[in-house]
Amino acid sequence: MDLTKAEEAILNGESGEGMQKAMELVTALGKIYGAEDLIDITSAHLSGASYKTIGDGGLKYLEDMAAGGARVSVPSTLNPVGMDRGRWAEMHISQEFAEKQLRIIELYGKMGVRTTCSCTPYTGANVPSYGDHVAWAESSALSFVNSYIGARTNREGGPGALAAAILGKTANYGLHLDEKRKPTVVIEAEIDGSVFSYSMLGQAVGMAIGSGVPYFRGISPEVEEAKTLSAAMAASGSVALWHAEGVTPEAGSFDTSGLETIHIGKAELEAAYDKLNTVQDVQLIALGCPHLTEKEMHQIASFLKGKKKVNKDIEIWFCTSEEVRAKCPEDVRIMEEFGPVLADTCMVVAPIEGAFQRTGTNSAKAGNYLPTLCSQKAMCRDISALMELVM
Ligand code: F3S
Repeated sequence: MDLTKAEEAILNGESGEGMQKAMELVTALGKIYGAEDLIDITSAHLSGASYKTIGDGGLKYLEDMAAGGARVSVPSTLNPVGMDRGRWAEMHISQEFAEKQLRIIELYGKMGVRTTCSCTPYTGANVPSYGDHVAWAESSALSFVNSYIGARTNREGGPGALAAAILGKTANYGLHLDEKRKPTVVIEAEIDGSVFSYSMLGQAVGMAIGSGVPYFRGISPEVEEAKTLSAAMAASGSVALWHAEGVTPEAGSFDTSGLETIHIGKAELEAAYDKLNTVQDVQLIALGCPHLTEKEMHQIASFLKGKKKVNKDIEIWFCTSEEVRAKCPEDVRIMEEFGPVLADTCMVVAPIEGAFQRTGTNSAKAGNYLPTLCSQKAMCRDISALMELVM
């Protein structure tokens, strides 16, 4: 790789151990993926924030990085952590878990990371612009900013994103390059336009193509639908960039003639639904994957207003960011009659397996990960169908 003199000096340890480790990691990734050089980034979003997912090894890594003087050099936000910082006892979390989780957050804070802990930072805390090169982890968020905003990031892992945040640079390969952003397949989608239909569409597309850059016809997602679609395709497949005709900013610049076309309609959506529904009764209903936006908080509160939770055996969690929760006190009041509105955490990165075995969600992403990462049998239905279970 072509490194500048300043970059070579960092690699040689002249800027301290933290910077050196970060440069070693970023250049190693660059060599693996054939990058010719490094590129400046304007922001980072870091995953690897829950004690459940990183464990003691990850905690030690963060301790070492912070002790080595590492500090981020671009605006950087953090993914959800394993618990609501103020309400972890309601989540059946142990004192030991809570202490280690708080230490992880403290270490990220020490390194200059904004510890907002959400997977939807693009709605407020961290909003890239079109054409920005960024280093984002969190598969749903990076797909959203790549696709709906037109920023440029690879599917970074937690350590890679942290290293890039420290350097303010990442390796210049993959989705940073024009040619890798071209669509690889056309998807003709036939859906009813509800947010849940976007979840099933994403599930079906991920199942059909696995990876690649889908180019959609027949959809018009707004922010909530786009975040749902991004999350679903990133979980059922490994899609990190998609385009939608007449909607996403780069879509108009491609010639799609000659690409394979896949039709996703009723049969494919039903197959996606069947794949995610393996249980008929649940102990927990968890909404907010990706984190609920203000609009979704308002929609849920409007739906619940005047209704009563009759089935006390099923717990309900609503997951959002602290930022959004603070902005919607009236919605929170209504929702809290059904279950806690939890901030900065979610049903997948929290250790729910200690308390539950069967969980319902409206998210295809959570529907994929609840069985694999949380040992759950999962149900995936739209919000009104889930709420019927408790009313
Ligand atoms: Fe966000 Fe957790 Fe889903 S991090 S995208 S709510 S799995």
